[in-house]
Amino acid sequence: MKNGLSWFLVLVISLFLLNNCIQNKAYKALSEEQDFINKLRMLYSSGDQKQWPKPVLDAGALDNFTEIGHLPSVEFPSDNPYSIEKATLGKTLFYDPRLSKSNQIACASCHDPELGWTDNRTFSFGHDRQVGSRNAMTIMNVAFAKSLFWDGRAASLEQQSKMPIEDVKEMSEHIDIATEKIAKIKGYEFLFEKAFGDKKVTKEKIAKAIATFERTLISPASKFDKFIDGQSSLYSDDEVMGLHLFRTKAQCMNCHNSGYFSNNQFENDGTSLLGSKHEDLGLYLITKKPEDVGKFRVPTLREITRTGPWMHNGAFTPLTDVLTFYSNGNPEPPKKKSTVHEGITLESEKSDKLKFLDLSPIEIRQLEAFLGTLSTRPQRLTPPVLPQ
Ligand code: HEC
Ligand code: HEC
Repeated sequence: MKNGLSWFLVLVISLFLLNNCIQNKAYKALSEEQDFINKLRMLYSSGDQKQWPKPVLDAGALDNFTEIGHLPSVEFPSDNPYSIEKATLGKTLFYDPRLSKSNQIACASCHDPELGWTDNRTFSFGHDRQVGSRNAMTIMNVAFAKSLFWDGRAASLEQQSKMPIEDVKEMSEHIDIATEKIAKIKGYEFLFEKAFGDKKVTKEKIAKAIATFERTLISPASKFDKFIDGQSSLYSDDEVMGLHLFRTKAQCMNCHNSGYFSNNQFENDGTSLLGSKHEDLGLYLITKKPEDVGKFRVPTLREITRTGPWMHNGAFTPLTDVLTFYSNGNPEPPKKKSTVHEGITLESEKSDKLKFLDLSPIEIRQLEAFLGTLSTRPQRLTPPVLPQ
């Protein structure tokens, strides 16, 4: 009996000590993690990028790498310099549905400022309510894109602007007819005269004015910009960790880098859905080079939480699904899959820069929290009064 009691006491005391020990360890781990986050917070908000921890990058990513940070200032091309009058004319045209065959669809129908300059749909509705086959991209910060569209088929905003006007599934109007319609509107004469010095309406002037307006759509300073400038308390612990993961373990900066959060290259994320009815050959459709099958332009991540659904085909929503996709290194569909296009057998090979990252649910939450800091508040822009 006495023996039994002592054993019982020994057991209770051991359990007590063990529990204490586990708790101490847990406290220690927690406080070490907190120290680590505090240290990261200090470095990242120091205002000096040289103090930031080294990024984790693939050798193949170095040629097109610039550290993330603020957006640079916009450069206007020398043959289409900025003027406020030209931007005002461009804004008016951007909202004018008379550029479309039905007189019902404006650029702003699919690029709506209250919806992050997109339409927040998987695919847009265009002429006769036809459905397109790609997701409408934001035009915010588009001044920093080196080529345009998911497949880069336009080299400049001036060249790009007539494409949606003529696209049969979008505005479906011949550019010359659209130009004639604008030329017949008396109220436009004054705006063209102020912007270009004479009132003659041409398609080149329409393109230049719209491009000038688009180059003014720049994000104001985001929470990220303010944090790295020294407002250290602006970020939650999750946001600090998310920023660090983005630059290190998650290796997002292999492709999403610079102040624009895109290296402006074409990369294969394994999203071309080769061989299925949703197949999209991406850059190949423009270059016809077999190695370009399934490559898309790396999109900016600024304003990302406002521009869903995501990817060229709007296949992903919510944003967590995009992060889970990257965490798994996109194992499906298989690395190589073939299709026959115009009699040629083509294969798509996913970039080596995508790997199995094995992010924990907490890390995914942290990355998502960080991405949220790249967005700014929606703007309530007053639509222009359309000239009559
Ligand atoms: C019916 C919907 C619709 C209309 C109308 C429309 N767009 Fe778009 N826009 C899209 C879609 C979809 C894409 C992506 C298409 C692709 O990559 O093939 C896009 C892409 C763009 C891009 C490329 C952005 C980038 O980062 O590469 C610009 C710029 C743009 N549109 C400007 C305009 C302008 C200017 C007009 C009016 C003249 C216009 N859009 C009218 C749906 C539309
Ligand atoms: C190999 C280059 C590469 C890497 C690495 C990469 N991305 Fe991407 N990212 C792309 C490309 C290309 C697309 C467009 C793919 C498409 O449309 O099918 C994209 C699309 C996205 C989108 C959707 C954007 C939109 O406007 O629809 C998000 C969000 C995103 N990436 C976040 C990340 C994050 C977070 C990481 C790190 C975990 C990451 N990316 C790593 C190349 C990359």
